[in-house]
Amino acid sequence: MSLFRKKSINQLIQSSKKGKTLKKDLTAWDLTLLGIGAIIGTGIFVLTGTGALKAGPALTLSFIVAGLACAFAALCYAEFASLVPVSGSVYTYSYATLGEFVAWIIGWDLVLEYLLATSTVSVGWSGYFQSLLKGLFGFELPDALTAAPGAVPGKATFFNLPAFLIVLVITFLLARGITESKRANNIMVIIKILVVLLFIFVGVQYVKPANWTPYMPFGYQGVFSAAALVFFAYIGFDAVAAAAEETKNPQRDLPRGLLYSLGICTVLYVVVSGIMTGMVPFKLFAQDQSHPVSLALVQTGQNWVAGFVDLGAIMGMTTVMLVMLYGQTRIFFAMSRDGLLPKKFSDVHEKYRTPYGATWFLGLIAALIGALVPLDKLAELVNIGTLAAFTLVSFGVLVLRKTMPDVKRPFKVPAVPVVPILSIIFCVFLMTQLAAITWIAFVIWLTIGLVIYFGYSRKHSVLSQAE
Ligand code: ALA
Repeated sequence: MSLFRKKSINQLIQSSKKGKTLKKDLTAWDLTLLGIGAIIGTGIFVLTGTGALKAGPALTLSFIVAGLACAFAALCYAEFASLVPVSGSVYTYSYATLGEFVAWIIGWDLVLEYLLATSTVSVGWSGYFQSLLKGLFGFELPDALTAAPGAVPGKATFFNLPAFLIVLVITFLLARGITESKRANNIMVIIKILVVLLFIFVGVQYVKPANWTPYMPFGYQGVFSAAALVFFAYIGFDAVAAAAEETKNPQRDLPRGLLYSLGICTVLYVVVSGIMTGMVPFKLFAQDQSHPVSLALVQTGQNWVAGFVDLGAIMGMTTVMLVMLYGQTRIFFAMSRDGLLPKKFSDVHEKYRTPYGATWFLGLIAALIGALVPLDKLAELVNIGTLAAFTLVSFGVLVLRKTMPDVKRPFKVPAVPVVPILSIIFCVFLMTQLAAITWIAFVIWLTIGLVIYFGYSRKHSVLSQAE
């Protein structure tokens, strides 16, 4: 039974009440901006190009399918997050409700989500950074240093230097203790949205409806496989659910924040992908998949606007990386404090009060992966890990309604069991649309996780020591 040993919810609440408690001042509006800050990034600015090659102009449908999957999962996520009213990640909540083993698997999936999302976004960042350098100064890096090996057919690429360096900068900031403050985040988010709106207003004038026919050149299969890829564009809304403890009125504001941010992003994504595929024939994106949004603008002669889009995309993706790597270090920290990972990972730096060593360790791994693995492969892996975690969380909501019916739930999923079941169906369906190689990598990842759990974590877990 030790696989299902649980942390006590009371203990978690007690320990969160020690010392200062978090201020409860977030409103639905703050949560919406927080969500958009974590959501809009590489998905819309980069993966739209690859997605258009899979689905054609029907990429707009792919965004709707992926958005629906997220909306159902988001509701489950919110109930789960509000069930254990302490701050932390879904890893912590599952430890208290579903037991150590499930918590480990979810935590291990989240590592895949956050760590590799940092790498993925760094590759997207690099594409726009290079486009900006070229636009401003006509400067181009030697091919070898522009992308991962094999990322660009016909080009001898070897190492993505800008992606590597930006993750090191982010790591440096996080190790020194700079996290996103509400104000800086809000400013970046507004710039990001303005850039997207700028694209929409300029781009719409160049739309030629002929580019939209045939609408679905690769049939539903194309639409679904693109949906499984661009699902990446929505990742990050879990940051909203994690703010439950700091929200004034979670029952009302948490679902609003989640659904507003997802809703706004879905509308922006559908409109942007519609305009992009209307501006140029979708096959054109095969030319250069690293910065499709500004590529479409350059093709229509709007070089200036393309420059602004490059700049906004770079800023937007920087905040996404900060949030993702920050989340990753805190999950590792929690897993190490619980004894499931070596204690070294929860050492806190004397002066900076951050998990310094763990931050550099994870940052270096994320930087190297971003430098050496092509973007679409990375994004698919992030998606499969995230979809697996969402499936478990949705399942967890159903289980906990049975096993812990009386626990106070500041937020309840509507129409249980329909919504959690729809969430599971959508997530599993999207997982089945991912490439075989992604599944193989995922199974290897889970196997490594099981080996670590049974070889190390089970014995060293703080709960097992207590027993
Ligand atoms: N949704 C985030 C992005 O698209 C991870 O960059």
